[in-house]
Amino acid sequence: MTTTPGTHRVAAIPGDGIGTEVTVAAQKVLDAVACRHGFTLDWRQFDWSCERYVRTGQMMPADGIDQLREYDAIFLGAVGFPGVPDHVSLWGLLIPIRRAFQQYVNLRPVRLFPGITPPLAGRGPSDIDMVIVRENCEGEYSEIGGRHATGTPHEFAVQEAVFSRHGMERVMRFAFSHAQHRGGHVTSATKSNGLIHSMPFWDQIFHEISADNPQISSDQCHIDALTARMVLSPDKVDVVVASNLFGDILSDLAAAVAGSLGIAPSGNINPERTHPSMFESVHGSAPDIAHKGIANPTAQILAGAMMLDHLGETDAAAAVTKAVEDVLGSSDVRTLDLGGTAGTVEMTEAILARLGG
Ligand code: NAI
Ligand code: MG
Repeated sequence: MTTTPGTHRVAAIPGDGIGTEVTVAAQKVLDAVACRHGFTLDWRQFDWSCERYVRTGQMMPADGIDQLREYDAIFLGAVGFPGVPDHVSLWGLLIPIRRAFQQYVNLRPVRLFPGITPPLAGRGPSDIDMVIVRENCEGEYSEIGGRHATGTPHEFAVQEAVFSRHGMERVMRFAFSHAQHRGGHVTSATKSNGLIHSMPFWDQIFHEISADNPQISSDQCHIDALTARMVLSPDKVDVVVASNLFGDILSDLAAAVAGSLGIAPSGNINPERTHPSMFESVHGSAPDIAHKGIANPTAQILAGAMMLDHLGETDAAAAVTKAVEDVLGSSDVRTLDLGGTAGTVEMTEAILARLGG
């Protein structure tokens, strides 16, 4: 595949439910900003989804990973829809992409935008500004295990977790370098009081990587206490490095603390850039509000800004973020999840207008 200068080839996978609605909205914003900043996003649309699974028995074709390999980035909506078990949709598409492309960092920045009333009384934008660095290729999300004694009263399931030195070191190093970049503090989410093998190992590696980065302050906190800290003292949370499952749970909590799941973006990053990275919202396909035109497109638009940043289009990325800030900070255009009445299209048009495009 040849790449023209000033052109970024992007594979778009809108997926299911509101994934399709917010992806269209975000692509519109990204195309507008690209035009203003003198570059082109060369999109190719993929229909990989639960709908495709129902039709063909596969979320994506057998050579799906190879098809994606040559793109500069992947822009994913969300997958999952009632009728297809969630483990089929996630393990049939999202998780294989994350692993094949060694997107071992799931970067999930969350902050309270001026103009949004948070669910926590008395908190403002300076209190809520955190980044979840979630390990994205191993941990609790593992295929090792099985169901036994099926169909008997003694039926049981075994689900193994995988914590490798290599896997932990690389995500923790990323968290420290990210904290250094933003002048922050790293907190490790642990549970070494309950999980007797994996989490003491996680803590050991965290101590080693902390010792390598004495200039960056750090601490560790049990995941249960950390959820309380996030709600009671969000100002004491900055960069959190967490295992796959803990990071997933914490990022929905962080998004809720900042007002809504509808504003939280996410990057599945391959820091070495040997493979494409993938950008998506933290939220899922939200079947409860799908196809009603009311989903908040902000998370997907901000995921697009993260993608532009990754592609080196930093000015364009900043312009998208500023347009979102302007709409939230100095207009009353709000989607339902943020207490307003605007639909997906109105919210998108408001952001486009602030871009001037
Ligand atoms: P969800 O994130 O889709 O929805 C949770 C709640 O937040 C719902 O009430 C929904 O209406 C609301 N919400 C989410 N995004 C919103 C937005 N942009 N604007 C306004 N409201 C929004 O999580 P849920 O319900 O657990 O999962 C639904 C499906 O999505 C499942 O099939 C699940 O497996 C899948 N999923 C897929 C993900 C992905 O593709 N990365 C991530 C999480 C879930
Ligand atoms: Mg999640």
